[in-house]
Amino acid sequence: MASLTIRQLDERLKKLLRLRAARSGRSVEDEVRTILRAAADEDGGEAAEPISPPASKSPRRPAIAPGVKRVLLIVGGGIAAYKSLDLIRRLKERGIAVRCILTKAAEHFVTPLSAGALVGEKVFTDLFDPAGEFDVGHIRLARETDLIVVAPATADLMAKMAGGHANDLATAVLLATDARILLAPAMNPRMWSNKATQRNLAQLVADGVALVGPNEGEMAESGERGTGRMAEPLEIAAAAEKLLSAGAERPLAGKRLLVTSGPTHEPIDPVRYIANRSSGKQGHAIAAAAAAAGADVTLVSGPVNLPDPAGVTVIKVETAREMLQAVERALPVDVAIFAAAVADWRVANEGSQKIKKKAGQATPDLTLTENPDILSTIAHRKSQRPRLVIGFAAETENVAANAKDKLARKGCDWILANDVSPQTGIMGGDSNTIQLVTAKGIEPWPPQTKQDVAAMLIARIAAEIARS
Ligand SMILES: Cc1cc2nc3c(=O)[nH]c(=O)nc-3n(C[C@H](O)[C@H](O)[C@H](O)COP(=O)(O)O)c2cc1C
Repeated sequence: MASLTIRQLDERLKKLLRLRAARSGRSVEDEVRTILRAAADEDGGEAAEPISPPASKSPRRPAIAPGVKRVLLIVGGGIAAYKSLDLIRRLKERGIAVRCILTKAAEHFVTPLSAGALVGEKVFTDLFDPAGEFDVGHIRLARETDLIVVAPATADLMAKMAGGHANDLATAVLLATDARILLAPAMNPRMWSNKATQRNLAQLVADGVALVGPNEGEMAESGERGTGRMAEPLEIAAAAEKLLSAGAERPLAGKRLLVTSGPTHEPIDPVRYIANRSSGKQGHAIAAAAAAAGADVTLVSGPVNLPDPAGVTVIKVETAREMLQAVERALPVDVAIFAAAVADWRVANEGSQKIKKKAGQATPDLTLTENPDILSTIAHRKSQRPRLVIGFAAETENVAANAKDKLARKGCDWILANDVSPQTGIMGGDSNTIQLVTAKGIEPWPPQTKQDVAAMLIARIAAEIARS
């Protein structure tokens, strides 16, 4: 066989080789061996063995260029595991290097062969696999990654994580890592709402684990509907990308936030009540965004038709008086955001029995009395006043002027004013146009989704807290 030395190569090629070798942390000779081995593999693989360095049994992971982000995808044993194959593609098309672990249960749903073909290297399945352990090992799997994505995150995996178990490869790696962890839970709605799962979830969120989903919809296996569907691969890939990006810090980690949301129902009698058109979408979006930013969030919600945001402690109330009580019990907090549309008045002479319609009798006289002003009560507290008290002003005319007046009257720090005239579609709709009113002036925000308003508000809060 003809001999070839690196010195004989032209300068440009030598320079390129040196660069590749430096990036992958190999000697130039080893880099050449790697390239030849890959070329031989593409050609059928027969030539691979003789030129493999004899001591190395490492699975052939393509060298990762500097700056390329690495995700370790842990696939749990749920029906949604098939979607994780697509997730591998979605992550890779974003230039993310992917490694994959399948739990034993996951192997009932997808095979290491199909996952490995998509990842482009060996898939890891066994904690006690001697070859795997000597080659890469669970500690290296845990460390050589920028983010661990668990999708689907089964109820069982979440329970083990919350309890600090490490009795298989997935949980051992999850316990040994110091990388961020993103969970995409997927399970039957009853499993999801079960107190044990919610307890584990609260623990995981408090431990700093990030979440994407679960979404509401039809369950693949049972035809049931509810919250528990795994987020779609594109959503998970976007959430992973966000966590991997520079702004991935959790600016509200260690901070306690209180959010109120939804309408209140003020009883007329045991079956009738006065309500308003608030959907709770804005308040719930704020609670979710605050939790995603790492805050410990309590959401006090009036009656709404929305799923509880993941990782948030939700206290459900009906009336303004109950809301005030729940808010006061949740103190102390660093920031309080009052997005609920609290009824200004309630019926003073609430009937203890259903008010009967009787022929010939006058219509009932409903006398109204003022409800407690929650925003003002909290903003004027002498003790345990949150550092930042933020209110919403839902106006139908003179939005900015009324909001400025409200800021002064209520003693709060910021007001988010919005025009809720029916033609704006804001009340109950999915978008919002805000004017942020502070002591410094009025700042109009662009029309955007309620999620984007929430993200913008949370970013402003984080900046304000960092300043003060
Ligand atoms: C057909 C089938 C579908 C399942 N789907 C789910 C699911 O979507 N979510 C879940 O939490 N568990 C699901 N399970 C139960 C898990 O497979 C079981 O709890 C297993 O121990 C999870 O193991 P792992 O967390 O190590 O992957 C399913 C079981 C079967 C048989």
